[in-house]
Amino acid sequence: MTRKPNEPEGVNLKEHTMEFGQDLRSDFPTLARSVRGSRLSYLDNGATSQKPLQVIQVVRKFYEDQNSNIHRGVHFLSQEATSLYEEAREKIRKFINAGSFKEVIITSGTTESINLVADCLERSELRAGDEVLISHMEHHSNIVPWQMICERIGANLKVIPINEIGELKTEEFDQLFNERTKLVAVTHVSNSLGTINPVQRIIRLAKSVGAKVLLDGAQAVPHFSVDVKELDCDFYAFSAHKMFGPTGVGVLYGKKAILDKLPPYKGGGDMIESVSFEKTTYNQLPHKFEAGTPNICGVLGLGAAIDYINEIGYSTIEKMEKSVYDYAMSELKQIDQIRFVGRAEHKVGVISFLMGGSHPYDVGTILDQMGVAVRTGHHCTQPLMDRYNIPGTIRASLAFYNNQQDIDALVEGLKKSIKMLGI
Ligand code: ALA
Repeated sequence: MTRKPNEPEGVNLKEHTMEFGQDLRSDFPTLARSVRGSRLSYLDNGATSQKPLQVIQVVRKFYEDQNSNIHRGVHFLSQEATSLYEEAREKIRKFINAGSFKEVIITSGTTESINLVADCLERSELRAGDEVLISHMEHHSNIVPWQMICERIGANLKVIPINEIGELKTEEFDQLFNERTKLVAVTHVSNSLGTINPVQRIIRLAKSVGAKVLLDGAQAVPHFSVDVKELDCDFYAFSAHKMFGPTGVGVLYGKKAILDKLPPYKGGGDMIESVSFEKTTYNQLPHKFEAGTPNICGVLGLGAAIDYINEIGYSTIEKMEKSVYDYAMSELKQIDQIRFVGRAEHKVGVISFLMGGSHPYDVGTILDQMGVAVRTGHHCTQPLMDRYNIPGTIRASLAFYNNQQDIDALVEGLKKSIKMLGI
């Protein structure tokens, strides 16, 4: 795991010392809402995080003041929008420590980033008999695209198994790497369990057999610093909306040497160099993979989210999250009816559990009546739920702005569920 803070030089970090982050909550207007007559306890950050005013203002300013298309106009507004957009790309580059802006592809989200790689590899490198290796804890978005291409080309999808506490079975996964392994696609952090996977070891093993590695970082970047150079992964995918930015924007990092060799993804404006009916030539990186008008204000919002994270600093974010996570676990462990699903040694603030024999949905509905937002169900990881023989879990996923009150409301709601459902 990479945990080096990646704040840009010269930024004066606010070191927030309070235990549960109370004073940062006011940055997030949604957190001030009451829901069904109760204070909102938002514990569904794995699905999407709330947005700070700093991001909302940037998005609003774009439409109020700067709206124009990018890379297309000689006029003032277009040039301004283009500069802002490319400045945001530069923030993203620094945020993940990519070597060049050419390695930062803007997409609509993690799902599209993964589909882009799958589609382009299918049309260039992957052949019948090749193996694609994923893990048992992948989100559907890191299963189905690979399954689809494997079916089409006759490649084989292999799965790294996990143990009872939700960690990859490292003793078994060595044997899964061989000369047929062409691509390893694993999640950096499990959305359902919170497990932080040993991605450095996976990357090392993949390299030893000449396979490429794609990491799904959607659940990692909201919690800790990621350095793609240090990781030395080939692809890294993440979404803005889980890291306090807008929905509909994501990033695909790819090594330049690899991206250069891949065919384009979607066809359209901006991804071309020249078009004639006889032949089209393609644009340079990163534009080769960015057909059509992108989510411009969303990208600016992502830039603002990165500024916001940098201002707080990952060391503070990690401290705040750990503090609320430790409090949550100490409280939840006192409830006998809880069965935790996923107890990996290295994990982020994701707490998945079941309440006796009750259905997660019933508990989630009672919690909702009390203003407590959790996610219930299979969390887009059906094979993982099958592994545990359960229909789903109740999942509380934390962000640094959660506090003791949120956890107290969750605990109260669970106690009420025990009574109401006779658990
Ligand atoms: N992947 C998101 C989650 O885990 C939607 O909830």
